[in-house]
Amino acid sequence: MTGLGKIAVLGAGNIGGTLAQRIAEADLAAEVVLVDIVDGLPQGKALDIQESAPILGFSTKVNGSTDLAALAGADLVIETAGLARKPGMSRSDLLAKNASILEGHARAVREKAPDAVVLVVTNPVDVMTHWFHAVTGFPRKRVFGESGTLDTARFRSFVAAELGVAPRDVTGFVLGTHGDTMVPVLSLSSVSGVPLARLLSPERLARIVERTQKGGGEIVELLKSGSAYFAPSASQLELARAIARNERRLLPVSAVLDGEMNEKGVAIGVPAVIGRGGLERIVEVDLAPAERAAFAASVAAVRADLEILAHLPSSHAGT
Ligand code: 2OP
Repeated sequence: MTGLGKIAVLGAGNIGGTLAQRIAEADLAAEVVLVDIVDGLPQGKALDIQESAPILGFSTKVNGSTDLAALAGADLVIETAGLARKPGMSRSDLLAKNASILEGHARAVREKAPDAVVLVVTNPVDVMTHWFHAVTGFPRKRVFGESGTLDTARFRSFVAAELGVAPRDVTGFVLGTHGDTMVPVLSLSSVSGVPLARLLSPERLARIVERTQKGGGEIVELLKSGSAYFAPSASQLELARAIARNERRLLPVSAVLDGEMNEKGVAIGVPAVIGRGGLERIVEVDLAPAERAAFAASVAAVRADLEILAHLPSSHAGT
């Protein structure tokens, strides 16, 4: 399977820059373009990545620009722009500022890359996915958010460390919102098929669940300035690769629900099949009763943020 023609990464911060690097090194597209309003930042990072090509052997052309016109003809747009959390902040604290940044970007994507698949990364990601979908008017299969692949990677890492097994042998699903009410679904998690409940006591599992839910905050507290970007960009790469190579991976993404899981008009983490066209279908899973209740609480948390979004002065939410 050949890769894509062009992938545009909006935002050349730590996540955008690292993601552009990962995409180039994986040769997922003929071109990756980094776009940011800070003059010199996207151009400098793009050139720096490009200069590693002779050593690393990739063919992707890496460009940087401050002009949204650079989105033209992109097959995949990855939205990473916006503020990141500082210690003590929740992802929801970023809502107003990031919604206004994304509104301009969504309009530009609609105009310049009308056929693109859009992967939203900016926080609070479930609300921003809903917002990008509303502003572009794109079908929901072409606008979805990344968070569950990251939260699941954290969960898998913690389980692997606790059991002393290879991280890649741990499978799992973290569903719901990308926030403190996310739902690590133990009934869907295993080590090479062995259910976690057979390997770890309820107390040890509870500690892993809690650490996963606070996983982003743990890094924010450690870094003191800025937020995580190595695991986030790896998680975004996993989705970009599934799209570019039409892998049809079953992965957790923030999708705009239309009746699935008994919810409508809200974007939230659910398992979905991801391929070249974007989100091919949502796979509804039967959760254990406690997990169902936790998922409902997660949806309620996102709906509370959607209310805030709907009442922002410049907001066109719900249109
Ligand atoms: C995190 O969880 C960036 O929200 C992201 O680290």
